[in-house]
Amino acid sequence: MTKSKPNQNRRYIYESNNLLNSFDVIIIGCGIAGIYAALHIDKTKKVALVNKGSEIKSGSSYYAQGGIAAVMTESDSCDLHIEDTLNAGAGLCNAEAVKVLVNEGPENIRTLVDLNVPFDVNSEGELLFTREGGHTKRRIVHCGGDATGKETTDRLYNIAKERENIEFFFGTALIDIISGEKENKVSGVILQETETEKIFILGSENIILATGGIGQVYNSTTNPKGAVGDGIAAAYRAGAVIESMEMVQFHPTALVPQYESDRLFLISEAVRGEGGILRNRTGEAFMRGVHPMADLAPRDIVTRAIYKELLKTGDNFVFIDAGSMTKDFFIKRFPTIYAECMKFNIDVPVDFIPVSPAQHYQMGGIKTDLYGRTNIGGLYACGEAASTGIHGGNRLASNSVLECLVFGRRCALDINSRKNLSKRQGVNISRENIIRTAGRKLDLYQIEGFTKEIRTIMSLYAGAVRKTDGLLFALERINRIMDYADETDIETFGGAEFYNMTQTAKLVVESALERKESAGAHYIEDL
Ligand code: SIN
Repeated sequence: MTKSKPNQNRRYIYESNNLLNSFDVIIIGCGIAGIYAALHIDKTKKVALVNKGSEIKSGSSYYAQGGIAAVMTESDSCDLHIEDTLNAGAGLCNAEAVKVLVNEGPENIRTLVDLNVPFDVNSEGELLFTREGGHTKRRIVHCGGDATGKETTDRLYNIAKERENIEFFFGTALIDIISGEKENKVSGVILQETETEKIFILGSENIILATGGIGQVYNSTTNPKGAVGDGIAAAYRAGAVIESMEMVQFHPTALVPQYESDRLFLISEAVRGEGGILRNRTGEAFMRGVHPMADLAPRDIVTRAIYKELLKTGDNFVFIDAGSMTKDFFIKRFPTIYAECMKFNIDVPVDFIPVSPAQHYQMGGIKTDLYGRTNIGGLYACGEAASTGIHGGNRLASNSVLECLVFGRRCALDINSRKNLSKRQGVNISRENIIRTAGRKLDLYQIEGFTKEIRTIMSLYAGAVRKTDGLLFALERINRIMDYADETDIETFGGAEFYNMTQTAKLVVESALERKESAGAHYIEDL
């Protein structure tokens, strides 16, 4: 099966007077990867930080509970962290990238400490560590108990706001990347204000995509609204290599009772790291017979074991029993989780927590080298949108924020070393290059209907357990939706997001059909 090519004829309407100005660097995405990269760009360079959401908390980083994995003690070693990462990755990791990730972890944590990120410490001021699935050591630093993402993002954002060389564009979506037809390099981005739908261009020879994941192409996800793979889809249209999209990670334990919301609330693996045990309705600790690491086995293994239990019992959820912890400990260690459970009268650790798997993370994405460089000159990617190869078939818990730091910084270092950055001159883009000729209009109801259909198809046929005929059916349906979208004017923000979502879903299904064996998170039942 050969992967289809993106439709290069898609064009966007552009008013020529909407060209703003140029920046030395444009970063798309204000999660930890994007902001941390911005903070490492030389202060003499003008940086645009663009965020689709109107607030800093609109990205996935903000919701990271568990923490950041790094080797910070003498009882641990980089070799062990590398081994755990490779084991979790099901033999598919890029070992060189894993070495970089792990070896540069400690210095980046020290940088965060120096930047006053409020890590949890003991009474002597020493960092506290927790453990999660797949880790053989307690090596995960955390903030606010279970609020690592929020605390880290808030702190980095507050520092970036004070930097004179950084300008923020909130409520601004990436529509497309402008790259030369003759020269293989970028020259700017087409953006759209999400409220006014005004389209404008920013020019730059250095663009970092830190646009996060794709969770919203599934019905159940821990990813926030808007996580549809905008960066991946735009990079693909610009000619970037996209890889390993079939490797979609499902977190085993999202909270089951939920208020209607775009994202599901997560019960961190750290709850199991601190002694929580998965039980089925009869109270059986079913992970014990599945893997030597039992409840702390790598994520894909726990997720599939839960699916098996659910099939066996006909239930919609299993439980986490946190009864080995005292109430005081639980409340102090997991204040966010405790408060969320209490909203549903689940009084942990007295009560068991009902949980089931949900889409959580995209291991593949825009192929990059060890400095976040893609195959297009000046186009970089880092964080969840990138595929450095460090996660292989299954990401080790809490390696994701670490990846944001290590590779966000590396993107910045590479850009700092580049000569002849353009200095705020206008970008030479002809209007014809980005005008999309009028066709059918896509209305809101159609978008809503197609969105529901894509999410259902992806959840049924491209989830944690797949079948070849299901994937073929999914591809056929998604191709029809894609054809429709291709013949339609996508002038609205909702339309552009919907187009990206369709493109991303198609990439996942095509990649899943290309990989003929089960590996890591890609599990084909009929093989
Ligand atoms: C968790 O806290 O379980 C999630 C952390 C991660 O995704 O690595």
